[in-house]
Amino acid sequence: MNELYYGDCLDILQELHKEHPNGFIDLIYIDPPFNSKRDYNILFESIDFSDSTAQKQAFADTWSNISYLDSLGQIQELNLNLYKLLKTLDNVNISKSAVSYLTTMAHRIIYMHKVLKDTGSFYLHCDPFMSHYLKMVCDLIFGQKHFRREIIWSLNTSSGFKSQAQNWIRNHDTLLFYTKSEKYVFNKQHLPYTPEYLTRFKKIDEDGRRFRDDRSSGRKQYLDETEGVAIGDVWSDVMSFQQASTIKEYMGYPTQKPESLLERIINASSKKGDLVADFFCGCGTSISVAQKLKRHWLGVDISHLAVKLIVNRLTKDLNKNRTATLLENIEVKGMPKDIASARELANSPKGRFSFQDWIIEVMLDGVCNPKKTGDGGYDGYITFQKPNKEKGIILIEVKSGKVNVKNIREFIQVAAKQEADIGVFVCFEETVTKEMLRESKLQGYFMNDHFPGSYPKLQIISVEQLLNGEEIKMPNIALTTFKPSLNGKVKEPEIGYLF
Ligand SMILES: C[S@@+](CC[C@H](N)C(=O)[O-])C[C@H]1O[C@@H](n2cnc3c(N)ncnc32)[C@H](O)[C@@H]1O
Repeated sequence: MNELYYGDCLDILQELHKEHPNGFIDLIYIDPPFNSKRDYNILFESIDFSDSTAQKQAFADTWSNISYLDSLGQIQELNLNLYKLLKTLDNVNISKSAVSYLTTMAHRIIYMHKVLKDTGSFYLHCDPFMSHYLKMVCDLIFGQKHFRREIIWSLNTSSGFKSQAQNWIRNHDTLLFYTKSEKYVFNKQHLPYTPEYLTRFKKIDEDGRRFRDDRSSGRKQYLDETEGVAIGDVWSDVMSFQQASTIKEYMGYPTQKPESLLERIINASSKKGDLVADFFCGCGTSISVAQKLKRHWLGVDISHLAVKLIVNRLTKDLNKNRTATLLENIEVKGMPKDIASARELANSPKGRFSFQDWIIEVMLDGVCNPKKTGDGGYDGYITFQKPNKEKGIILIEVKSGKVNVKNIREFIQVAAKQEADIGVFVCFEETVTKEMLRESKLQGYFMNDHFPGSYPKLQIISVEQLLNGEEIKMPNIALTTFKPSLNGKVKEPEIGYLF
């Protein structure tokens, strides 16, 4: 069974460690936020449809506000030397945000080491601002002697905004490769020989096979028996998205990595049937590659948007039957699956906005209103294309507590102000009253010659109905709300393209 978890990987790692105290994962690749002090955003079309875009924050990469002292206390119990290192860094005035970041990462990497099998491998994708500190952290967790390679992924992107740097253009990422012990899987990877090198295989034997005489060993080296050039620790042949913006798999997820990078790592450090895990899996590059290369996989991300994107990514090229089979083999954990867990989320200390986000983004494929508003606003929206390039708006309001007809009336006013075509009001089933239903019926229908059928202008749908797979009634057109962006430019919506 493949598993996708929504949540902080620390919690999940601790649970997994309890279930598997001796380790169960063959390969871990992580690409955590880099302490880059910026928030990464995915661009969405904003509801006023002006040129500006609403930015959905995919994940925050600022560490200064994170309370890391709890982690530090626990690290003291788990790995005293690591604790001393982090305390020392703090004492010598390395920036607070760097120490906070390192502590947060160290705590999680300790558990990643624990859940790896004894034969397991670990790749940490980072950048030169943090890689030297992270290497010290990993040395103290894995043991210095289990450090295998520092891989330089050369990005070859000297054009564009990077070229404006008043310095050498920063052009690489760093990957630290460790194993848990001396015994580990490693399948050497090769690149084809250069045409110039191939000219050395000049001779042809009686069977038509090309070879060269190897002077040092005095024997024949056949071209069809050679594997190519063994790949070293500087990778300049793996295209980044900046170099090859046309790469088909690009989803617009900030810091998304190319599949070819993960193919190399997974092919080298695992076998078919092995378990590959990514505890910061973003839009699921490692997961998608593991699936294609017939590995089992386990992915974790703290953003439910990421978790949703992964499911879409894995199923987008499959027909209905294959999608169903694939979904049967994926367990999504940490997201409400039933009404009890939905209520738990609604009442969780994270607050009602997280429940709202789940309803809007996960259950309705909508976009949350970036301005969190109280009463009198709206929580999210979906847009659709009308004829003559006009945009249709479906406004969404989510309520986790008690509601009454007044809330419906208020929402009707907001929807009118936003010139929405349809309004969707989501709440728990037991809170829906007859009066609310009557008020919603009075609003009539949205009709447009372009779309067959008519759609209630105000729809009340309960959390229970959504969990049962019921959908809102809307023109049966492709959703165009989410538009992957490239280098900050918003692309034209592609009909039929969802995520
Ligand atoms: C650099 S991105 C990973 C991109 C990924 N390699 C890809 O190709 O899509 C880092 C991811 O870590 C997630 N993240 C941040 N903190 C996390 C945590 N504590 N637990 C799990 N995921 C986390 C973010 O939501 C983000 O999706």
